Amino acid sequence: MMIGKTVATRTIVQVLRINVEMRSRLLLTQFVRTFKAKSDKRESFFITTPIFYVNAQPHLGHVYSVVLADAAARFQQLCGIQKDQIIFSTGTDEHGLKIQQAAAAGQCDVLKFCSDVSGKFKTLFDMTNIGYTQYIRTVEERHKRAVQHIFSTLMDKGYIFRGNYSGWYCIPDETFLTEAQVKEVTLPSGEKKMVSAESGHTVEWSSEDNYMFQLSKFQDDLQYWLKFDKRVQPKRFQDQLLLWLDSELPDLSVSRPRSRISWGVPVPGDANHTVYVWVDALINYLTVAGYPELTVWPPDVQVLGKDILRFHGLYWPALLIAAGLEPPNSLLCHSHWTVEGTKMSKSLGNVVCPWTSIERYTVDGLRYLLLRGGTPHSDSNWSDTQAILTLNGELANILGNLLNRCTAPSLNPGLLVPPLSPHYFQTMPAAGYRLVDQMANLPNTVARHYTDFNFYHGLEEIIAVVRQANVFVQDAKPWELKNLPDRTKLDSVLRLALEAVRFAGVTLQPIVPSLASQLLDTLMVPEHHRGWDSLETNTDVILKKSCLHVSRPLGARKKLFMKLKGSL
Ligand code: MSP
Repeated sequence: MMIGKTVATRTIVQVLRINVEMRSRLLLTQFVRTFKAKSDKRESFFITTPIFYVNAQPHLGHVYSVVLADAAARFQQLCGIQKDQIIFSTGTDEHGLKIQQAAAAGQCDVLKFCSDVSGKFKTLFDMTNIGYTQYIRTVEERHKRAVQHIFSTLMDKGYIFRGNYSGWYCIPDETFLTEAQVKEVTLPSGEKKMVSAESGHTVEWSSEDNYMFQLSKFQDDLQYWLKFDKRVQPKRFQDQLLLWLDSELPDLSVSRPRSRISWGVPVPGDANHTVYVWVDALINYLTVAGYPELTVWPPDVQVLGKDILRFHGLYWPALLIAAGLEPPNSLLCHSHWTVEGTKMSKSLGNVVCPWTSIERYTVDGLRYLLLRGGTPHSDSNWSDTQAILTLNGELANILGNLLNRCTAPSLNPGLLVPPLSPHYFQTMPAAGYRLVDQMANLPNTVARHYTDFNFYHGLEEIIAVVRQANVFVQDAKPWELKNLPDRTKLDSVLRLALEAVRFAGVTLQPIVPSLASQLLDTLMVPEHHRGWDSLETNTDVILKKSCLHVSRPLGARKKLFMKLKGSL
């Protein structure tokens, strides 16, 4: 099975178009690129999520980012990566003007304000079973050290220089914008104002002395980095980055005067300037890797939302390349959740509260909904009506009913996994063959979808198998078979149906860890037989009486998922 890339590296000295400019640049930077060669086995897995602003409370969209990363990390573990070889970072982004302003508005000490909200994100992630290994806060000393170290490195290399920035700044997005990125709008009062064309947030004019990063020097490097397939998934976001690269990149302002923004990391050697909050935030990925003493680099996957693609797909790799470090192996850029078709926003009052959703749907229910309905390539719509239909239909009915049937005392009084009779296997209803076929394909198909972060496709396949198992049980009529003098046929039906439940249990682990573990506990599947490689099904295996999964007693019968009431 293709799982990913290994740590085997090959070093390639950059040989690009030989023109004078490039040659002089190479001499200047002594830039060396290393690429990870693709192979079948990965030994460690380094994944990151964006760090979350603490000026507002956590919402459903934030949970989606971390659940995606968590499912990817759990899947890698199922494929054989040791738990202690997983690096999974998340955390909070706590510097910047909007946070400084939010704390001031609440008449609160800034650090206390940040600690309170950061704590809420952490509690929420713990509650939702996110297996992060690092929770980073940008106010930490280790982070300040990393930011100042890389800033000094870039100054020493000549990529950061003193300059003057005159242009637009958008506080809610904490971003500098060019003329082309802003537009004028007329308010209902008739008043005119300038806003960001992309986010619609108000912008203000600023003209200030600050430090600039020579982003324009990295156009070719970025194009080269983006030449590789699946560098950014889904593909449309890689195309978007390449499109941005068709126009010349302006240099990037990387500091702001301390008189305007004091809540941040001072520029090394110049206390009058604060490091630009986005540069500060991006460096968190280096901090968690131990920078400047890197223990692991680069990240295998960096998860981010579509609104922060430019920062992660242009500025971030350029900063790394400039510092002589490898850019990330890949980015997973996801689209957003809307609510009943409308963008989630505090002012519209339609922000979905994750705690309310957990209360209504349970932790596993919420995770299932996010990964079943979330399509990274385009926006997904959150609807409570649809949520109930999905959970009742798929977890309570399709999966829950199959488990119930297989463990019902009237059909399975001994509560065990019985053997499959070769004779029955040759004469069973056609639905049984289709089921065996689907099961045989499931591990590879789901692995492919999970590897590509298309968890929703993986779930479609799993549910299709469970649905087919129900069709088979329906056609095999175990309630009639139980009246026959010998149990061979009934046992055979149970064996196949329970095998489908086991397949669902193993493959659902990255999505709904508690529910899947409850399912596998009921089947009494030993902990060390829950990996992806335990999913081998072909006729020989299924018919083998000595198979690990035959004649095993089952655990206590428990309701898998409580049906939700239709009205809220
Ligand atoms: N602090 C920056 C990220 C710095 S990373 C070096 C930031 N924070 S954020 O809190 O505004 O957003 C964090 C993540 O949540 C982003 O990936 C963003 O796309 C995601 N989401 C915000 N709203 C969302 C939805 N409605 N739906 C899905 N994800 C959403 O940006």
